[in-house]
Parts: sequence; C-alpha cells; structure tokens
Amino acid sequence: MDEIISTEKKKVMLSGIQPSGDLHLGNYLGAIKNWVARTDEFDNYYFMADMHTITVRQTPADLRRRTMEQLALYIACGLDPEKNTLFVQSHVHQHAELGWVLNCYTMFGELSRMTQFKDKSLKHKENINGGLFTYPALMAADILLYQPDFVPVGEDQKQHVELCRNIVQRFNGLYGDVFKMPEPYIPKAGARVMSLSAPDGKMSKSMPEGCVFLMEKPEDIARKFKRAVTDSDTENCVRFDLDNKPGVANLMSIYSAVTGKTYEEIEQEFAGKGYGAFKPAVGDAVIEVLRPIREEAAHLLADKAYLEGVYRAGAEKASYVAEKTLRKVYKKIGFLAR
Ligand code: TRP
Repeated sequence: MDEIISTEKKKVMLSGIQPSGDLHLGNYLGAIKNWVARTDEFDNYYFMADMHTITVRQTPADLRRRTMEQLALYIACGLDPEKNTLFVQSHVHQHAELGWVLNCYTMFGELSRMTQFKDKSLKHKENINGGLFTYPALMAADILLYQPDFVPVGEDQKQHVELCRNIVQRFNGLYGDVFKMPEPYIPKAGARVMSLSAPDGKMSKSMPEGCVFLMEKPEDIARKFKRAVTDSDTENCVRFDLDNKPGVANLMSIYSAVTGKTYEEIEQEFAGKGYGAFKPAVGDAVIEVLRPIREEAAHLLADKAYLEGVYRAGAEKASYVAEKTLRKVYKKIGFLAR
C-alpha cells in the first residue's frame, strides 16, 4: 500500500505573495487563477509572505487585515483549503531558522546583483535595512523547506529563484543531496497584466489608478477601465499589436483571460466599434468575474473562526514538512541534536 502511494506521489508546487498591498487583478490572472487550475495535479503550498513585507515599513493593523484578506481571497478565488496547504509564513518558524542558515550560504556579491534590491533601495532610501538586502535568502528558505519541483513566479521573481538554485548547488555540493533543485514556472506572456494607466509597466498597487483590486467596488473598476490608456495613434481600432499598441494589447489580454475568447474573436467582436465600446466591455467582463470572488471573500471574512481554522491547519501541515528539512540541514551543518 505504502509503495503504491509513494510511486503516485504528486509533484510539489509552492508559491507565496506578500500581503504588502491588497490583491489585484494581476495577482489573480497572473498567479492565483493558474494555481487553482493546477490544484489536482500537484501537492500545493501557498502562503502569505508576511515576513517579507517588513523589509519595508508596514502599519501593523493594515498588515494583519491584509494577511487575513489575502487568505480569504485565496479561498474565494478557488483555492480549496482541503487540497492546498494555505498558511501564513510567520506561523511556521522554520522559515526564519532556515533563512538564517541560508544567509550564511549566500554571497554578498550575489545579493548585490538583485535588481529588486536595487529598485527598492532607490524607492526607500530612508530604510535600506539588512532584511531588504538578504531577503532572497529567506525566499530560498521558503522554497527549499518544502522541496518543491516547481515554483510559479512572475518574471520579476525569476532572479530570486535563480539565486535559490545557486544556493542549492553550493549547499548540496558541500553536504550531499539535501535540497531538491526547484524549477521556476513562469506563466506565458499573456498572463502578465500591465497597468491600465501606464501599460509599459506591470499592474501594481503602487499605481492605484492603473490597478484593479479584487475587493474593489464595481463602479470604481468601471471607471478605471473607461480611463484606461489605449494608444497615441488615432486608429481607434481593436487590434493586437504589442509593440505599437501595448495598452490595447493589455486590455485584449485581460478580456481574453476573463472571457476565454481568442484575440481574433475579440477583434471581430469590436470591428468598427472602437475603444469607446471596447474599454467598458472589458470593464464589465472583469466586474462579472470578480463579483462572486468579492462576495465570497466578504462572506468568509465574516467568519473569522473558519479562517483561523484554515490557517492553523495549514501551519501545522506546513510545519511538519518544513521541520523534516530543517532537521536534516541542522544535522548536515554540524548543529548538535537536541
Ligand atoms: N518574493 C515574492 C514576491 O515578492 C514572494 C515570495 C516570498 C515568494 N517567498 C516566496 C514567491 C517563495 C515564491 C516562492 O512576489
């Protein structure tokens, strides 16, 4: 019996999102929706990366609220807590512990090359703290504790996963096969949601006018789509041209993701109609997709005991797996067994 189970063992998938801002359409279409689609295929770990958020100063009450909301939204988006281990990073103390160990196997030079560190230290000049610098070592710990096969991340996190792979190579080179080599799992270009107001950059909470939040009111969503940047030419034609019409391409990609229509079908649907008809139609389609998610999240947030039960069970399961890896690491590096 045991053998049957072990030969059919599913591959492990793990990812996290920082509760540093409210979840938005980019998180949903670019990440969570894909996680949901692959639930049955993999053994899944998804967490709220709260320990990462304090590399930038947070308001404590907001961080707490967003962490809870993120969990509610994970579930409302379709992540079944029975089939996915959903947990809060700080609830599983092994993250901090392995994070410290991996800090000592991560080079200053490697960390100095991280583009996110360079960007964030320009943005937060008054608070360039040690955690901001060593963050990729903690992220490597997040990953390696669970020995995942795949780590779905956006393009901007690829460099951190590459660094994690370097750490695996270095560590395993010294101590044998301790960590499984994880593969980044980057969604196709179409899943990358760009800002509605500045479509050359990705949708981000730091530019709220171009960002559609999952809990946002329909009228606000409608307004943001009506004001979405299309293009500077006067063609006024819905046509997929990423280089010359990035704003239109982004709207088409969003519309395609929420309706399942192909770009050709969209071009036909809006032939001769122009942006004045297209933009509100995309807004309406997004509103309809987000409506049940928002309602379900609100419903779940009203039942705090349920959410607490989910994150406690998640932490327990995660901690069990994480502890096995941590023990092995401690032993390999020469820490005295307790
Ligand atoms: N660094 C990721 C981000 O900012 C979040 C994250 C933290 C993560 N730990 C992770 C993602 C581990 C994947 C795996 O988006």
